[in-house]
Amino acid sequence: MSLIPFTYFMPTRVECGNGISEETGELIKDLGVSSVLIVTDKGVRAAGLLQGIEKSLSSANLYYEIYDEVEPNPSAETIQQGTVYLKQQKIEAVLAVGGGSSIDTAKGIAAMATNAGHILDYEGVGKISNHPLPIIAIPTTAGTGSEATNSTVVTNKETSFKLGVLSSLLFPNLAILDPALTLHLPQEITAATGMDALTHAIESYTSKSANPVSKAFAMQAIKMIGENLTRSYFVGTDLESRENMLVASLLAGVAFSQSRLGNVHAISHTFGGVFNIPHGIANAALLPFVMKFNLPACAEQYREIAIALGRNVSGLSIEKAAEKAIDTVIEMNQCMNIPLNIKELGVSLDVLPKLVDDSMRSGNVFVNPRLTKASDIQLIIEKAYHGDLECFHRDAFGSKSLEPAIMNV
Ligand SMILES: [Fe+2]
Repeated sequence: MSLIPFTYFMPTRVECGNGISEETGELIKDLGVSSVLIVTDKGVRAAGLLQGIEKSLSSANLYYEIYDEVEPNPSAETIQQGTVYLKQQKIEAVLAVGGGSSIDTAKGIAAMATNAGHILDYEGVGKISNHPLPIIAIPTTAGTGSEATNSTVVTNKETSFKLGVLSSLLFPNLAILDPALTLHLPQEITAATGMDALTHAIESYTSKSANPVSKAFAMQAIKMIGENLTRSYFVGTDLESRENMLVASLLAGVAFSQSRLGNVHAISHTFGGVFNIPHGIANAALLPFVMKFNLPACAEQYREIAIALGRNVSGLSIEKAAEKAIDTVIEMNQCMNIPLNIKELGVSLDVLPKLVDDSMRSGNVFVNPRLTKASDIQLIIEKAYHGDLECFHRDAFGSKSLEPAIMNV
């Protein structure tokens, strides 16, 4: 049987190495620009992570300004204000330094500097027509993968909805991976962002839109995260595991920019929009529940993931081996102090209909390995709220949602 036709496209130049962020100025000069807007948040700035980067920009005679208004789950207004500031300063490129929020904000600013209207006008796929300003991304967490993706996620504060803007024009021109910038990340951020990367990799690997190239990237990311995340968490200054996590995060980003994601991200984005819960921690807590739901549709892929995460599955049935992958995710959450339910994160079921409706708006639902209806999303949220994995078996969802999913195995 021949492969389903697919496209692989990832134009981002990647530079990786300990201390390489101190060469940012020289690397940016290759792009032919003379000025940049550093897009970051106040925490990154206060931690001193900009110092070496600013010095290198000055040494390379690059003019720069700093926009440090980025907040968690960044809003359309933050992008709008940053765009106005960039245009006032007549700046030619955007340099994100931070986590996914800073990189996504920078992408939005770069796009709105050259396209009319408002970022909210560009929700969906392929709506951006003019090439954004050059985008350079320096991640200071290992999780987002946004330094190598074609998307930005923006919160519409009026509707409390996180929307996605996807375009092949949003791939950064340059990603600079410097593990030295991640050595002092707090444990809780290491855990949340690392589990976000693992979620990217697992959802990408099992996506209906996965292809052989995206699967290769996703599987390597899963292996590297399994080998390095808990070490990064417990020994934060371990340079090797920090570097491996940065690379794994990028690989997962490359993977999901080809395949999209799944139900975890469809649901977690609603938690970010409505409750302002950090993205990574929402994904981590949801992941075991969505995996339980998906298991009947992708047991063989989960068996492969269990092996990649270091589990011995010899002698086990495919389903039992697949469950080892879910067990491993739960154990990783437990050992990194991540709640095993979403109630502890601040999720309330008072707005359950909105959470379900907003989740179903996500394109990620359509590539989730198991066919998903609104009632399935509702049950996943309810199960995750109560931390109820024990009774989480296929019969709970009824045969109607199961039958089409089996066809996808
Ligand atoms: Fe994510």
